[in-house]
Amino acid sequence: VQPLNAVADALNQTSDLDTLQGIDWDNFGFGLRPTDFMYVKKGDIAGNWQEGELVPYGNLEISPSAGVLNYGQGVFEGLKAYRTADDSILMFRPEENALRMVHGAERMSMPAPDVDTFINAVKQTVLANKRWVPPTGKGSLYIRPLLIGTGPILGLAPAPEYTFLVYVSPVGTYFKGGLSPIDLKVETYFHRAAPGGTGGVKTISNYAPVLKTQYTAKGKGYSDVVYLDAKENKYVEEVSSCNIFVVKDKVISTPELAGTILPGITRNSIIQLARSRGYEVNERPVSVDELLAADEVFCTGTAVVVNPVGSVTHGTKRVLYNHGVVGGVSQELYEALTSIQMGVSKDEFDWVVE
Ligand code: COI
Repeated sequence: VQPLNAVADALNQTSDLDTLQGIDWDNFGFGLRPTDFMYVKKGDIAGNWQEGELVPYGNLEISPSAGVLNYGQGVFEGLKAYRTADDSILMFRPEENALRMVHGAERMSMPAPDVDTFINAVKQTVLANKRWVPPTGKGSLYIRPLLIGTGPILGLAPAPEYTFLVYVSPVGTYFKGGLSPIDLKVETYFHRAAPGGTGGVKTISNYAPVLKTQYTAKGKGYSDVVYLDAKENKYVEEVSSCNIFVVKDKVISTPELAGTILPGITRNSIIQLARSRGYEVNERPVSVDELLAADEVFCTGTAVVVNPVGSVTHGTKRVLYNHGVVGGVSQELYEALTSIQMGVSKDEFDWVVE
């Protein structure tokens, strides 16, 4: 793969959105829409990285014996870029994603790009694909950094070579129906993670196992499932692709990070935002009974942002929250978060990067 002159042209585009005609920005879900460029950087197991480069978005050539294909050696990240009303592009807390990738890579015996390299790669990729950042207020550019073992390996061991890559796709809301309450089912047989496992890092191998339960639940009309802890089958952990919060008597609680739950960057931001607005927020074990007795429930994640939960079904019991409409706390925190992300309100936490 060769860097292209076209990259330089793309970086210099002025009227970037105008180059995309006929896109219906109002009706984007969370689907893949291939863009112009991706960033690729290769390195060895000792962490010696080659120069990274922007190349046209396209397929990778990869050994059939690659560590990622055979043993699932890979971690990924997700973050978003937003276009502001005055046409600048903002990213939200990219340093946190970089640090989470470093942490996950260590768990998966991989070398990781350092924080500056990660942020620089993400910035370059967003700029090269600038025309794909949706108009302000009409979604965001989802950024997907990946770190995978691409070197060939047969015996069970870390791959000899690694690829760090970043690609992007414009997206709208994650769940069908936009920011409307979702219907969750409590999963009591399958578990997402066990103590000592990899639930607390964003390894690719955490995600395929949830597909079966998610698919079954969707077939029954639910939006997704809530997982319980693997030890006692009693405490709420997370939803397949997001963290979960409950609100009772204006007090907000969310499962604590004890190694089996993904340390969501949106989760952390919502905790800080809610506290700054005077809410008491507890990170502690949250039982399924408390989930069912809550006044309001919502999910957080980069992809889902803040999404209210309309109902939870546990066995034969179904609880409807807030009469199935968006609850006040979810609405308040959604607005507070997204207005910072979109550059509308003051970024008192210094979260946004241009
Ligand atoms: C994200 O929210 O960025 C994620 O990585 C979840 C993914 C399953 C869409």
